[in-house]
Amino acid sequence: MFISYICTSKFYQMMNVANALTREVRGILNFNAGPSILPKEVIEEASRAILDFNTSGLSILEIGHRTPLFEVVMEEARSTVRELMQLGTDHEVLFLHGGATTQFMQAPMNLLNEKDIAAYTETGTWAGKAIKEAKLFGHVEIVGSAKESNYTTIPKNISVSPTSAYLHITTNETIAGTQWHNLPYDRNVPLVADMSSDILSRQLDFNKFDLIYAGAQKNMGAAGVNLVVVNKNILGKVKRTIPTILDYRNHIKEGSMLNTPPVFAVYVAMLTLRWLKNKGGVAAIEKANDAKAKLFYDTLDGLPVFRGPVAEEDRSKMNAVFVMQEAALEKEFAELCKKEGMYGIKGHRSVGGFRVSMYNALPLESVMVFTELMKDFARHYG
Ligand SMILES: Cc1ncc(COP(=O)(O)O)c(C=O)c1O
Repeated sequence: MFISYICTSKFYQMMNVANALTREVRGILNFNAGPSILPKEVIEEASRAILDFNTSGLSILEIGHRTPLFEVVMEEARSTVRELMQLGTDHEVLFLHGGATTQFMQAPMNLLNEKDIAAYTETGTWAGKAIKEAKLFGHVEIVGSAKESNYTTIPKNISVSPTSAYLHITTNETIAGTQWHNLPYDRNVPLVADMSSDILSRQLDFNKFDLIYAGAQKNMGAAGVNLVVVNKNILGKVKRTIPTILDYRNHIKEGSMLNTPPVFAVYVAMLTLRWLKNKGGVAAIEKANDAKAKLFYDTLDGLPVFRGPVAEEDRSKMNAVFVMQEAALEKEFAELCKKEGMYGIKGHRSVGGFRVSMYNALPLESVMVFTELMKDFARHYG
């Protein structure tokens, strides 16, 4: 509260107080890529529910999923997603187990016949994993690849055959730090998207997607549950027999209660969705996310000691990846960040350098403090 007040006040802007706040005062700042920062209010409410859920005298961890106590949680989670995404009646909202990694195979299993071709864009590690799994079920055509730029760009002008079973994109590549800003809508084939790392962070025309999947643990809650939004009209068209638990139609029929859902993870997702709604929804969070990303990238571009490898127009507003111009300084900066309590800023082991994740729950003040640290470092070493 105190730090929040200080950092947003005019006084801060004049005196740059965030820079002067010590680690002891501000605490640890969490820039983790996932699982990642959650709103404080959500963590507090979830903690209370572990002890006594809605004054039931029971913990959220010990209630039955087919009880009115939990049914309202699932219903609020579902209806809040519908409201935040402004979904039409063709789209169903599911909360499933297995992480986005399960969706890499569940999507083609439900949508791709053995002899058919699905169009995939190859934008980095996560798209690569989705492509690998799709090949187990049918043919894959790569209709756009960022491989040549070492995944520092997003493919442009992709061409998709109207006979493709669907087009798959990864809207935000968490490791590479790239993001689709011009979405490939209206290609006359179903549009499937892995939105794990930018779900509900910006206004998109969600009804134009036929299948959206996202692990909850970045923008939408704790690990353990997946959001799946599916246009029911694209289902039931593959010839193979789908195991009961992997057939989306069964989950729709059973309201995400085909088997025991991850009760606590759904509850935390519901609280996070409620928090987002109370903040003003997707339009408001997009504005906040834009401000954080602008501050971060403006600072990065103004300090020659750092370098952002991603093409400017394809930079992710969620995961900002950067390196040092002089690799030898990486250790110094990492140590400074550690000393100052900047948590989770190490780049993914496959890419190196640094990564600052700025998901919905990350306050602008955290980015202010971090960018001040970058400036301090640049003054010393630049
Ligand atoms: C874009 C993207 N897709 C998929 C995954 C895999 O998610 P999960 O670990 O929930 O299977 C991740 C995880 O970080 C991700 O960032």
